[in-house]
Amino acid sequence: MSDPLILGIESTCDETGVALVRGRELLADVTATSMDEYARFGGIIPEIASRAHLESFIPTLDAALEAAGADLGEVDAVAVCAGPGLIGSLTVGISAAKALAASLGRPVYGVNHVIGHLAVDELVDGPLPERFIGLIVSGGHSNLLRIGDIATDVVELGGTLDDAAGEAFDKVGRLLGLPYPGGPHVDRLSQQGDRKAIRFPRGLAAAKDRERHRYDFSFSGLKTAVARYVESLEDAGKQVPGADVCAAFSEAVNDSLTAKAVQACLDTGCDTLVVGGGYSANSRLRELAAERCEAAGITLRLPPLRFCTDNGAQIAALGSAAVRAGVEPSPMGFAPDSGMPLDIAVAS
Ligand code: KG4
Ligand code: ZN
Repeated sequence: MSDPLILGIESTCDETGVALVRGRELLADVTATSMDEYARFGGIIPEIASRAHLESFIPTLDAALEAAGADLGEVDAVAVCAGPGLIGSLTVGISAAKALAASLGRPVYGVNHVIGHLAVDELVDGPLPERFIGLIVSGGHSNLLRIGDIATDVVELGGTLDDAAGEAFDKVGRLLGLPYPGGPHVDRLSQQGDRKAIRFPRGLAAAKDRERHRYDFSFSGLKTAVARYVESLEDAGKQVPGADVCAAFSEAVNDSLTAKAVQACLDTGCDTLVVGGGYSANSRLRELAAERCEAAGITLRLPPLRFCTDNGAQIAALGSAAVRAGVEPSPMGFAPDSGMPLDIAVAS
């Protein structure tokens, strides 16, 4: 018998994603985004995002079904992001998912968007190992997780005490006058700079923090150091070496992320590191993670760039993993959870 057909719906932020997955095979993955509407505001406006989800949902669903050559009636289960995310955006996706599930007489799984960023890797590199370390890096999260079964056994080891990696990049982008969202622009500029030109601080690297905050991150001190550096040059009427600032800043963020991720693997005896989230598109993160994992004998699994941004495939992949693990579907009354904890993969 073939694996069940899972319809995945993503609507945590500005992307409306719909995907179809059978087992670990991706059949279709279609995304619409309202990101262009926010450039003039310098940040996402939740009400605009919610309305955009409403307008995009049916066309995105239709396009996904067509791409997969599937009929809605063939869907065996519906998976939707239950959180964390913007409450209005989540509400649109969840309402659509419940309506579809009820009308089809199929179960609905409210899954964790963030864990989905790791689950999507199964669609590319095959089954995840029995246990591994997950590094989640996005605009809202920077966390280290210890994972057994992705649908049932996720333990949070640590996370950022202040800014997330993507958020810190966006703030530095704004500081340097780059367009929103700044992350990809800072990344691009950093590739033309000298990462050793300036030595910016690494958060929580002092000996006293190394035990207490072994798996935690902090990027706000670094961001302030970058701001001070830029201000002092501007006050002195000197030109700011934008590429060098980006390269040195990027190095500091990625040094912390990769050092602690490798440490977590070594401490827990996990020989695989899986990275996911929007920030995992960062070029220096990818390079440094590859170097350090290879040196430590750790297998690195990084999503291809098209799976770094939010997408329906990550939701369908986690839904599929939940069905495979025999997890109970979510009750029809489950609510969106803007702060869904990272150790809950499926809403109950
Ligand atoms: O996972 P994601 O799409 O949305 C959240 O759930 O937050 O991550 C988006 C974040 C933004 O902060 C964006 O600026 C950042 O990831 N980002 C990058 C790069 N691509 C996206 N940051 C640095 N370098 C990149 N190449
Ligand atoms: Zn995300």
